[in-house]
Amino acid sequence: MATQTVREKLASIDPVLKHDWHVVARAEDVPEGRTFGVRLLDQPVALWRADGEIRAAYDLCFHRGTRLTAEGNRVEAVSKNGFRGDCLICPYHGWHYDGTGQCVYIPAAPEQKPPRKAHLQSFEVRERYGWVWVCVGVPAHDIPVIPEWDDASFRNVLWGPRSVPAAGPRLVENFLDVAHFPYVHEGYLGDLDHTAIDDYTASLTPDGLVTTEIKVWQPDPDGTGIGTYSSYVYKVFRPLVGYFVKQTGGRFSIFFTVTPVEPRSSVAWMCISMDYSAEMADDEIRAFQDTIFDQDVPIVTAQFPEELPLDLASEISARADHLSIRYRQWLDELGMTYGVTQREREIVQL
Ligand SMILES: [Fe+2]
Repeated sequence: MATQTVREKLASIDPVLKHDWHVVARAEDVPEGRTFGVRLLDQPVALWRADGEIRAAYDLCFHRGTRLTAEGNRVEAVSKNGFRGDCLICPYHGWHYDGTGQCVYIPAAPEQKPPRKAHLQSFEVRERYGWVWVCVGVPAHDIPVIPEWDDASFRNVLWGPRSVPAAGPRLVENFLDVAHFPYVHEGYLGDLDHTAIDDYTASLTPDGLVTTEIKVWQPDPDGTGIGTYSSYVYKVFRPLVGYFVKQTGGRFSIFFTVTPVEPRSSVAWMCISMDYSAEMADDEIRAFQDTIFDQDVPIVTAQFPEELPLDLASEISARADHLSIRYRQWLDELGMTYGVTQREREIVQL
């Protein structure tokens, strides 16, 4: 089979995720003076800083197919042939690329103006909430809003990255599922004497899926060790961005986003917000979420099929699964194909 061109590779990405924003790194992970490589939707992506902004491009110099993240790459302020600014310099022949990805200088032909097509496949990139967001297509939406981020009454703690060999939609569905708390998170988020989930609804709004309140008894809902009935409201802003806010006395929320690295490989990120002064350092808050997440990982990495089945007939659901059913329906309506499967009807048809 012929090797796919970069254009063909990008054209074959699920459009739902291709034209959406994804967190790929913490802003602090992108150094000055050299590139930082990440992977998104099966594609290698190079990040770097030029002229004060984070930049992103397909990790390939089209001159001789060299990775821009290969050893020896560097980013420098240059003044060459009338160009002044920061350039990403390919480690192989030193071709210089400006912040937009245009080649502005070819060392082996210093007098020649590089052709316009000597241009990296650059991507849209934004820095928000301390994270680097990349879109490998044409953004069809804004970056989702973390409601608490600009509210001075909230403390915000970033958590992640955590790599997980599981499909992104599997991780998001797990995040949306309160019925597993008594079993997977007993003593923390759930209690085996309180397993019933009252009816709730989930509806599609311009902000994505939104539920009514879901009440859950929790022995230790936020790591403070104080048991209480929590009232959850979930929102699913985007296919791979979930959120809940819960009243535990104070207001506690988690914004949860998943990087689709490969169909069965993901990176999880959270912004944890609270409007009360828990006597916990940021690292303790992160450690508590590590504990919870470590309980989820063996479940989500063992699910079959590995991709989330969108055919509702392929598994058996209970009333408490209403949100995950609506989530699967929504992904199906959007036409999502990445990290999901349609062809598993036979699973329960023994
Ligand atoms: Fe869980």
